[in-house]
Amino acid sequence: NARGTFAPLSAMELSQIDANRAHLEEVGLQAIREGKVAAVLLAGGQGTRLGFDKPKGMYNIGVTRELYIFECLINNVMEIVKKAGAWIPFYIMTSDKNYDDTTAFLKEKNYFGYNAEYIHFFKQEMAPSVDYNGKLLMEAPDHLSLSPNGNGGWFSSLCRYGYDKQMKEAGVEWLTAFAVDNVLQRINDPAFVGAVIDSGCDCGGMVVRKADPNERVGVLCTEDGKPSIVEYYEMTDDMIHLKDENGNLLYNFGVILNYMFNLDRLTEIKSKRLPLHIVEKKIPYIDGDGNLIKPTTPNGYKFESLILDMIHMMDSCCPFEVEREKAFAPVKNPTGVDSVESARKLLEKNGVTL
Ligand code: UTP
Repeated sequence: NARGTFAPLSAMELSQIDANRAHLEEVGLQAIREGKVAAVLLAGGQGTRLGFDKPKGMYNIGVTRELYIFECLINNVMEIVKKAGAWIPFYIMTSDKNYDDTTAFLKEKNYFGYNAEYIHFFKQEMAPSVDYNGKLLMEAPDHLSLSPNGNGGWFSSLCRYGYDKQMKEAGVEWLTAFAVDNVLQRINDPAFVGAVIDSGCDCGGMVVRKADPNERVGVLCTEDGKPSIVEYYEMTDDMIHLKDENGNLLYNFGVILNYMFNLDRLTEIKSKRLPLHIVEKKIPYIDGDGNLIKPTTPNGYKFESLILDMIHMMDSCCPFEVEREKAFAPVKNPTGVDSVESARKLLEKNGVTL
C-alpha cells in the first residue's frame, strides 16, 4: 500500500497526565458509570508463535498456582468495575477455530467473577491462505484452509451480530479494543478514557515511550494530516532520529494494541475497506495423499486486515502515554522477548503472585 506524507503527532505524556490525573479519572469513571464505554477483547488470533494449541487466553501463566491469561485480563477490568461501581459491557471476539474452547472455558471458570450478563461473544470472519507459490491451501479434501482474517475485522464482525445497535440503544458512545495477550492490559483505564473524551478526538491509543530509537514498534503519528501508525520498517533514518527543540525524539511513542474509538465514527467508516496485509504463518494443510500436515515452520501466507489501519480512517487521535513496565507485558513467544518469561517477570514486579 502506498503511504502518504508522515509527520509527528505529539502524545499526552506521563508528566501531563499525572498533573491532571484526578480530573481525567473522574471524567473516565463518570462515562464508565453511565454505561458509555464498552470493551472489546480481540481474542480471535491463533497465537502460532506461542505454540499453545488452545486459545491464548487459556494459557496458564501461573507458577505455583493457576493464573490464566483470561483471568489476568478479567482481574484488571474488575479493578475498574469496582472503582466505577458499574459493570462494563464486555465483548469478546473469537474465531471459528477457538469459539467453542473459549466460551466453554470461561463458562467453566464462571467468567472469573465477571457478571455473565455483561459478556457477549462473537466470531470474526475467516480468510483463505496460500502456499509460497500462491496456491490455495486445503485443510480437507472438501474445504479450504481458512484462518482468522486479522484483528481489523472486529467492528464489522461485531455489527453482523447486531451488537452495534445493541450498544447504541444502551447508550454506549465509546468502544475500547485491545489484545488478549498483554497480561498487564489496562482495560478501560479511567484516565485514558477521560483523556480521549476530554481531547475531543475521534479515537485514542495507548502508547509507550520507545526503549531506543530503533525499537521495532509502530509509531503513532500523522499521515497526510490524519492520524496513522507508521511501521518501524517504513521509517527513514531521518524520521527515526528527528528531535524537537528540547532534544526529545519526535517519533517516540509506540502503539501497544489498546485503542478507544467513538462508536458513531466507527459506524460511519464501517463499509470502508481496510488494506490487506500479507503475513507469513504456519498453516495446516493436506498433502497430495490427503494427510493433514501441521507445519512447525512457516509454510505460506495469510491475509489480514489490522485494527491499526482504522486509526487512519479517523480525523483525530489522542496518543496517551502509559508506563511500559506497568501496562505492557505481551505474551507472544514461549521464551525471550515478549514471552511467557518476560511477562511473568513483569507480573511479579506489579505485585501479582504467580
Ligand atoms: P497477533 O498479531 O499477535 O497474532 O495478534 P496471533 O494470531 O494472535 O499470534 P501469532 O502471530 O500467530 O503468534 C494480536 C492480537 O490480535 C488478535 C489476537 O488474538 C491478539 O489479541 N487477533 C489477531 C484477532 O483477534 N484476530 C486475528 O485474526 C488475528
